Amino acid sequence: MLFDVKPLPGDPILALMTAYRADDAPNKVDLGVGVYQDNAGHTPVLRAVAAAEARVLAAQTTKAYVGIAGAASFNTAMTQMVFGTSHQALADERLVTVQSAGGSGGLRVAAELIKSLRPDSAVWVTTPTWPNHVPLLTAAGVQIKQYRYYDPASGLLDRDGMLEDLANIPSGDVVLLHGCCHNPTGADLDAQLWSTVATLCRDKNLLPFVDTAYQGFGESLDGDAQGIRTLADIVPEMITVTSCSKNFGLYRERVGALTLLTRTADHAVAAKSHLLKIVRSMISMPPDHGARVVAEILNDTGLSADWRAELTEMRERMHAQRRGFVDALKPHGLDARFGFVADQVGMFSLLGISSEQIKQLRDDWHVYIVGSSRINVAGLTAGKVDYIAEALAAVLSG
Ligand code: LMR
Repeated sequence: MLFDVKPLPGDPILALMTAYRADDAPNKVDLGVGVYQDNAGHTPVLRAVAAAEARVLAAQTTKAYVGIAGAASFNTAMTQMVFGTSHQALADERLVTVQSAGGSGGLRVAAELIKSLRPDSAVWVTTPTWPNHVPLLTAAGVQIKQYRYYDPASGLLDRDGMLEDLANIPSGDVVLLHGCCHNPTGADLDAQLWSTVATLCRDKNLLPFVDTAYQGFGESLDGDAQGIRTLADIVPEMITVTSCSKNFGLYRERVGALTLLTRTADHAVAAKSHLLKIVRSMISMPPDHGARVVAEILNDTGLSADWRAELTEMRERMHAQRRGFVDALKPHGLDARFGFVADQVGMFSLLGISSEQIKQLRDDWHVYIVGSSRINVAGLTAGKVDYIAEALAAVLSG
């Protein structure tokens, strides 16, 4: 079988991470993979996570299996984190959650569910979207199509194009939305647009499928869930996937949750049995440790308060760095061109520069950004932002 295999190209974002690590230039700058970093370029273990891990390990007496759905304490806490504690769908038992291996694991299980229950439905993704959405979803056999979302000329959402495309999607298809902090553009829907999109999905019989990988990195923990909560007020059914990689800093532990909103409590029970069958056939059961840590935090008032405080610090730091980047571009006369970066939220923005300029940034200046011209704003640290601005000005003038 393996005697004539040819090597495949690596994943573009992860290959960039490897190239950055291999670069020994002292002035190198990592604006690539979507991982939070502090001023020293370090991705810390959050305080509440370290405390919760100690508690979990001290209390743990067995490593026996938990079950296909994962820990109930985690699933309930995550449902409440995403939908709020008082959403009617919760009281009506129309929400069912299973633990997933990161957000990606949830996306893949959801794609398998779509393929098995609605085999002819396409999944519509934003143009552009997180590059890994496409391989993750197509691996399950679902067809991917694209709708307009972003206007590169203005750095803003292409609101009219989006609504026009959504209105033309055939009944029964699935619409993938980013819950907040759109990856890679940093351009999000406002409250009014969420409501318009929700109504459109309900009226046109489209199934919303919301990927939220950055809850708490945009506006606030609850503010970033408003889109999902608005949808849940209006549509009868939807799929949501939430990652704990970024907001809990649990990247390598692979923690996430997949929630289905169904028409009735009975449908939720039936839908859960389908999820369990899929998870069992793919990975048998999810890993426990990271989810247990999240449950420990969310179910403890003190840990939860400390986690929220640290999440706020991370968010506010990224907001400040967005502004610092635009300020650093002023001496180069580039602040107006890139002013949109300061107005966007979350971890990413698209600079809208050419592939040649991206390559020059990397080859000549050791500044690593993703090939779509996406930057990770967590890397725009005070110590490096002037150098980054100088590098950008140089490649743009060259
Ligand atoms: C990113 O977009 O950089 C992150 O979500 C990490 C990844 O796996 O691509």
